[in-house]
Amino acid sequence: MPVLKNISALYTCPPDGGQHDVGEIRNAAMVWADGQIIWSGPEPDLPKIYKGYLTYDARGRMVIPGLIDCHTHLAFGGWRADEFEMRSLGRSYLDIAKAGGGILSSVDATRQAAPEKLLEKCRVLISHIVKLGVTTIEAKTGYGLDLDTELSVLRVYRQLNNIGLIEIIPTYLGAHTIPPEYSKDRRKYMRTIINTVLPMVNIEGSARFIDVFVEDSAFTADEARRILMAGMEFGLRAKVHADQLSACGGAELAAEVGAVSADHLERVTDQGIQRLSKTGVVAVSLPLASFYLKQPPLPARKLIDSKVPVAVATDFNPGSAPSWHLPLAMTMACTMQSMSPAEVLKGATAYAARAISVDDTLGSLQPGMQADFAIIDAPDVNHWLYHFRPNACVATYKKGRALHDVSETEAVYPWY
Ligand code: NIG
Ligand code: FE
Repeated sequence: MPVLKNISALYTCPPDGGQHDVGEIRNAAMVWADGQIIWSGPEPDLPKIYKGYLTYDARGRMVIPGLIDCHTHLAFGGWRADEFEMRSLGRSYLDIAKAGGGILSSVDATRQAAPEKLLEKCRVLISHIVKLGVTTIEAKTGYGLDLDTELSVLRVYRQLNNIGLIEIIPTYLGAHTIPPEYSKDRRKYMRTIINTVLPMVNIEGSARFIDVFVEDSAFTADEARRILMAGMEFGLRAKVHADQLSACGGAELAAEVGAVSADHLERVTDQGIQRLSKTGVVAVSLPLASFYLKQPPLPARKLIDSKVPVAVATDFNPGSAPSWHLPLAMTMACTMQSMSPAEVLKGATAYAARAISVDDTLGSLQPGMQADFAIIDAPDVNHWLYHFRPNACVATYKKGRALHDVSETEAVYPWY
């Protein structure tokens, strides 16, 4: 039963409470056993019974729940640095997509990639991601689009779960765009999703969520409704890529079907916010995508004022957000979305857990929750997100076991 002491600030991030309620405890200690938190609180209150146990020293650093990246497109063939150059010089994302680049160019590369290669690529990416303090990620399909490639990406996610590093929560995003072989018959592609792919995904039990990209260049709200309803009949919960490049009724649709999250929302309307606020849908903000595509950020303050929980994720993908750096996205959520560091921390832990329906066990360090946590070389959350460093995380624990530990490294802040 290990005890972690000398924590400058522990953030328990309770699943309930408001956006800013991160349950900060100064000068804290934490106890875990069998992969679960047993006790957390001020160190002077540590019950005597825990005193003889194996003790770790946090060396005056802060401790947070393991970060949860609740929106990624982890598995894809190739990269798209050439498009980054074109966009840097002024070409638009939609223009590149219409010319056959964008998502379709990654579809091409993903279909050509052998599943073993995709698995190996994802494994390497994850070995880097875990060092940032991330312990769980949602990962979407959507770069295969045909039956075989979509199923094989979902199998890659299952195999990655078996490796036992980061936990992967899989989402089927067959409705990412219309694949080239169906460009003249989009209804036929929708029938393929509904009648062929979804039943197979169901048989393999390989996805927990169904997602649709609602956008002029992808699917209309009516088309998305049909696809989401079909997925929900197979027991998948709905997610929506909503109102990213234009207001297409994505937020309204997410509210209507009772989606677990509406993601992006850069262009969400006041009416969309109203609908979200009545239904408990989590708004997933993706500041890296806004930044890379030079989009205005989502209106976080309006959403928070309307009592919509706001999560923060990377959207890691080869096009609009080619970075898996969740702490960077968190600092950007402060500067671009006008959220406080505490609000952002809640958004990348407890509310991110809610956005992928794992908030009964993950995203918080209250007793009974899974012992997924990170030790960050900063005195508190304000300092951490203010002084952005490539990696301030010195240890990552999953189910009470260290996956990454460089805590012997000298601390940057001499706060004694
Ligand atoms: O979430 N918006 C749609 N899908 C991704 C972009 C994917 C890509 O450009 O490859 C997103 O931003
Ligand atoms: Fe996305």
